[in-house]
Parts: sequence; structure tokens; C-alpha cells
Amino acid sequence: MSRLLLVSNRLPVTVKADKDGVSVVRSAGGLATGLRGPHERSGGVWIGWPGDVSRLTQAQRASVEAQLAELRCVPLYLSSSEVNRFYEGYSNRVLWPLCHYLIERMPRQDRDWEAYRKVNERFADLVVRHYQPGDTIWVHDYQLMLVPALLRARLPQARIGYFHHIPFPSSEIFRTLPRRTELVRGLLGADLIGFHTHTYVRHFTSSLMRLVGLETVVDQVAYEGRQVRLGDFPMGIDAQAFENLANEPAVLEDVRVHREQSKGQRLLMGVDRLDYTKGIPQRLLAVQRLLEREPAWRGRLRFVQVAVPSRTAVEDYATYRDKVDELVGRINGIYGSVHNVPVHYLYRSFNERQLAALYRAADVMLVTPIRDGMNLVAKEFCAARPDEDGVLVLSEFAGSADEMGDAVMVNPYDVEGMADALERALEMPEEERRTRMRHLRTRVKEYDVHWWVRSFLDTLQAVPTPPPRVEAAGAEKALTRMREARELLLLLDYDGTLVPFAQRPELAAPDAELLELLRRLTARPGTRVHVVSGRTKETLEEWVGALPVGLHAEHGLWTRMARGEPWKALEGVSTEWKALVRPVLESFAARVSGALIEEKSASLAWHYRQVDRVLGARQARELRMHLGEVFAHGPLEVLPGDMVVEVRARGVNKGRVVGRVTEGMAPGTLVVAIGDDRTDEDLFAALPEGAIAIHAGHKETRAGYRVNSPAEVRQLLSALLAG
Ligand code: UDP
Ligand code: G6P
Repeated sequence: MSRLLLVSNRLPVTVKADKDGVSVVRSAGGLATGLRGPHERSGGVWIGWPGDVSRLTQAQRASVEAQLAELRCVPLYLSSSEVNRFYEGYSNRVLWPLCHYLIERMPRQDRDWEAYRKVNERFADLVVRHYQPGDTIWVHDYQLMLVPALLRARLPQARIGYFHHIPFPSSEIFRTLPRRTELVRGLLGADLIGFHTHTYVRHFTSSLMRLVGLETVVDQVAYEGRQVRLGDFPMGIDAQAFENLANEPAVLEDVRVHREQSKGQRLLMGVDRLDYTKGIPQRLLAVQRLLEREPAWRGRLRFVQVAVPSRTAVEDYATYRDKVDELVGRINGIYGSVHNVPVHYLYRSFNERQLAALYRAADVMLVTPIRDGMNLVAKEFCAARPDEDGVLVLSEFAGSADEMGDAVMVNPYDVEGMADALERALEMPEEERRTRMRHLRTRVKEYDVHWWVRSFLDTLQAVPTPPPRVEAAGAEKALTRMREARELLLLLDYDGTLVPFAQRPELAAPDAELLELLRRLTARPGTRVHVVSGRTKETLEEWVGALPVGLHAEHGLWTRMARGEPWKALEGVSTEWKALVRPVLESFAARVSGALIEEKSASLAWHYRQVDRVLGARQARELRMHLGEVFAHGPLEVLPGDMVVEVRARGVNKGRVVGRVTEGMAPGTLVVAIGDDRTDEDLFAALPEGAIAIHAGHKETRAGYRVNSPAEVRQLLSALLAG
């Protein structure tokens, strides 16, 4: 196992200071327990914030450092301004509500973005300092969305995983965020991006398409020369540990006491951080509604709501607390008696042992968030029920709902429906309760946190390490060989290689600088230049025909070997199929606004660069499938290109050019091909041994060298002239 570097906003520890000194204790949370084994076994470190230590003395700080080192934890201290702007500000006032669909809670201004970016940089710096070649880095959660890309820039060969612990919202929500693209690109630095559910993966892929124009193929996205994997890995809990706790004699004694105290009453339970995503008011309203409409339940219900103080410096949390306080007071005021109140509201946190007792004592567990990435409390409740009793009422909007179909599902926005569900849960026959709980427990125990860690890390380990990127250094090496060659044969693609893509194909005419560059190349001693393009011969002739270059149009269907020579077509190429394909493309163009058709002698192309990105990609996929089915064995090929679906005569491809241009070539001639898309891969594949292929861009390629853009292609060619 490679060394694991774990990175999360919070370290999995709690620092406690009292008069006897300061102690650092491990947290019990799911993430901390799940990762403890791999963290210790791999000999790696965990990097994160140990919480507010500003009140500690110098000596206490030193003691904290020593204790953290013992636990292989590396602290990153946040200043009070960073806590305010990075943690409370951007993470919890902006990203948290955004990802939970609560955009009206987001502040209008972007003032904390800079702090967020800077703290993400600090995290990345610290990771880089601890990184050793071969390490696996696993970054956690929304506070650190920029870290993967910051790391990738500095550690191109590193294996990097990222897990998003909260929902990833619909792209319609996500794209309201001013910094949406930076954040998505931040995540794309990872090799594997994990989410709790498939829905979040789907939302993320549509954001990728809308914001960056990237298409996900099955579970992969090609980005900057790498394949980024996406996957759903529903997080579990340490089910065995909870079950063991729930069976401990001391816990069973607590269970007995809880039951004793609610004698003659049914015990409803809620356990949440006091967070506005948890749906506590709606839950209280449902309890109130039940008491209102079913007088028979009055005095017979005891609802214990644990609310753990959380993010108290953020105003919305304070307002929410007031709202909950008020509701609790109102319900108890109406339905309480001198001896009893229906709602027992506990604003504090409990340890796992105490929680296990509450879980095991409950008749009905209410987990009804209005939105929740996963919700581990729902799973802990089931694990703590080896007696196979108790009913889980679960919100459809919790990630865990995907796995826990045997719960009583509710829509938390429907108070009346929730009151119905509560009643159903309270009256559920024992047999049904047991069957449901048995199924829930089987799932929770099998897919526990250890399974989660294993499946994520196994997937991450299986990602092939990125091929060494040959950027500046590689191009430099290719350039040296080009300079040294006595004879040089340059095969240059046009669009996306010599010029950037334009909105419409006819707008990509060569500029004066390019024409001059090509002219000077043709004048360079021992150098021949050929342009190998998908364009028509008329366009090539018009745009670069005046230069002494060889021209190859329509992917090699037409060739003009030298200026002044006639154009010759490849022989035996069929074009009758065009009459059948044209109406299909026309029907797709008619119903997709912005799409256009381009016709050449042996090909037809359906362009969708100006179409809405998501619609364009979907229609292009459908068109390819349709053509593939209808013309399966026809004399044609369907090629997906950059925002274009091209249909061309079978057997015509850029590779056919190579034989023609290398015929009679002087021995020792160096052939260099430069191109940016799939059609250029045919050219690269046909190159003679010893030739150089250079990919311009970030797609997967067989080329040994890479530059980033048409601008860099021009730089390379200019450097050749300068040398
Ligand atoms: N928890 C706790 N003490 C409490 C209440 C909750 O330790 O008094 C723990 C609980 O056991 C669970 C976690 O806090 O593991 C809450 O995780 P969940 O996924 O339900 O919600 P989150 O707080 O992450 O939004
Ligand atoms: C959620 C988030 C975690 C976060 C936790 C507690 O579970 O996904 O990243 O640590 O809430 O919130 P806090 O702001 O106290 O860290």
C-alpha cells in the first residue's frame, strides 16, 4: 500500500484544554474511524485544522504539536480572519447553502473568495511539503475544492482523489455561483472524484458540460491530457462498533432508564447538528400536526430532539436556533401538561455511547433533512438496533435514502404527509418493523465505512498513473531534433492546430502572422511543408494556396502536392450514401437551433458549436447512434470531432497522406506531424519510424509530444526558424 496523505479541513481530533493541561483526543466520527486503519498502516499523515487554538499558551501549543505528531497529524492553523472568511465565510455561508439548494441564503457579494483561494493554497503547500513520490493523496470535502488542481499543477505525477461529502446540486443551481468554473476546474485536478450518490455524479457531469464543455464518457472525462474518473461511493459507518456499543451492559442500562422515563409513551427521536438543512422545524410541525389532528396521541408521545451546536458564528445558524426554540416552546405550550411535555429539546452534543443508548431506546427515529449529502445518523440508528426493532422515518432528500428503501420515506416539505408517516411508523405491526429493520441492517453492515474506504482507494489505485507530460521540456527535445535534421517534412493540421477554433468554420481564415510563418518555413533550407486538413480543397486553396506548400483536403481525399499542380482525388471512393445521410442531418439541424450542416465532396458534417452545450452533446450522441444503426455496414464512417459529427467515405483518412508525401523521400528526412484531434491520430499512426508526432491540446493521444494550444504550435515553429 502506498503512503496515504489525507487532507481535510478538520483534523480527526479534538483539542481540549483544562486546568491540568491540554489533550488531543481522536474524534469518533465516521470519516475518522473509517480512515484510521489505512492512515496508520500506510505510514502517511493527515493534514488539517486542529480547531481554534488561539487561547492556548505557548507551552500548551507545543504539547498539542507533540500529541498531534504522535497521531501522525499535521496541523494547519487558521488565523481568526481565515476562520471568519474561509471557513465561516466562503465554505459555510456560500458553498454549504449552494450545495443544499438554498441559494437565497448565499450572500450577494463574493468578498470571501480570495480568502478561500488562499487557504486552499496553504493546504496545497503543506501537502506538497509532505509529499513523497508514490504517495496517494485523498482530499476531503467542499472546504478544499481548489486543492486537487493546485496539487496537480505542482505534482503532475501524483495520484489524487477527492471526495465531496455534501450534495452536488443540479447544474442549474451550481451555475448561479460566480466562481463556479474555478471550483469545477479545481476538482478536475483529481484522478478520481467521488460522491455519495449517482444523482450527485450526474449533476456534476452536467456542470462539467455546461461550464467547461467537457463530455463524460461512462465514468471518465478527458481533461488536460488525463482521464478523470467520477464515481458514487455511498459512505457507511463503523456498523460493528455501533452494534457492540448498543450491546454493552452500561448502554443497555441507559436504554432501560430512557424507556422507564417514557413509560406509557412512545419515544420519537431526532439527532442532528443544529443546521438549517436538517429540517428540524418541519419535523416539529409534523409532530404538532399529528397531535392536533389525532387527540388520542396527546400525552402518549415523547419526542427527544438532540441538536448539536454548530457553526454558531454564522448568523443563519443563530436565526435557525431561535426558530427551533420558538417552535419547541409553542408546541410544548399547547400540548404539554403539568407533568409532561411532548418535545424534549437538548441543545448539546452526546458521545457515541450516549447516542447508542438513545438510538436503541427509540420507537421511531426521525431523520428528515430537507437536503443532506448522506446522513450517517440514519445508518447509526440501524446499526444500534441488534434487537431488530424500531422504525426509521427518512427524508427522500437524504443521500442515504438511495440505499435505505426499507425506511418509511417522507417528503419533509409535506407536513401533512409527514404526520401521516409518523402515525404509520407509530402503529406499524411488529412483524413489519422487524422485516424492514433486518433489511436495513444487512445493508448498513455490509456497506460500512471500511467498504467505503476500500472501494474508493481501490478505484483510485487502479487509475493508471498519468503518462509523463511532455510539456516545455518535451517540445524542447523535439525542437532540438527538428533543428538538427538535414531534411524536414512538416505535416500540419489546420483548425485547432495552426489557428484556434472559431464560432463558424468560415471565420477561421489565416491571419497575416500565420501566413508569414508558413512562408518562412517553406523558405527554410531542407524543409517541406504540407497542410493536412479536413477542409475542402476550395477553402485551402483560397486560404493558403498561394504558398509553396502541399495541400491535403477532406482528410486526404484530395491532394495538391505542390503549388501550381492539379488537385487529385483518391480513387474508388463512394459518395452515393450522401443522398441518404443528408436528410438525416437536415432533420437534426432543423430541430436543434444553432446546428449547421457542412458538405464536402466525400463527407457531410453536422456542426453544433453554437448549440446549447448539453443539448448539443446529447443530440450529437443520438445522431451518432442513429447513423451507426442505419448505416452499420455502409461505405461510410461516423466520426465524433470537436463539436462536430462528421460522416465520411470509409477508408479516407489523414493517414493516407503519409504514403504520398514520403514517397521518394531523401534518407534521413525527419517527418514531423502536428495535430489536435482524433482525425490527426490517423496521421500519427501512419508515420514512419523515427517520426515525431506532436499533439496540440489536452486530449488522449498517441503522440509522444504535447503542446497546449495553437499559440504554442506557432511558438514552436517560430523557434525552429530562430534556431
Ligand atoms: N453526532 C455526535 N454527537 C451528537 C450528535 C451527532 O457525535 O450529539 C455524530 C453522529 O454520530 C454522526 C455525525 O455526528 O456520526 C453526524 O453525521 P451526519 O452525516 O448525520 O450529519 P452531518 O453533521 O455530517 O451533516
Ligand atoms: C458535514 C461536512 C463536514 C463537516 C461537518 C461538520 O458533515 O460534510 O465537512 O466537517 O459537516 O461541520 P463543521 O463545520 O463543524 O466542520
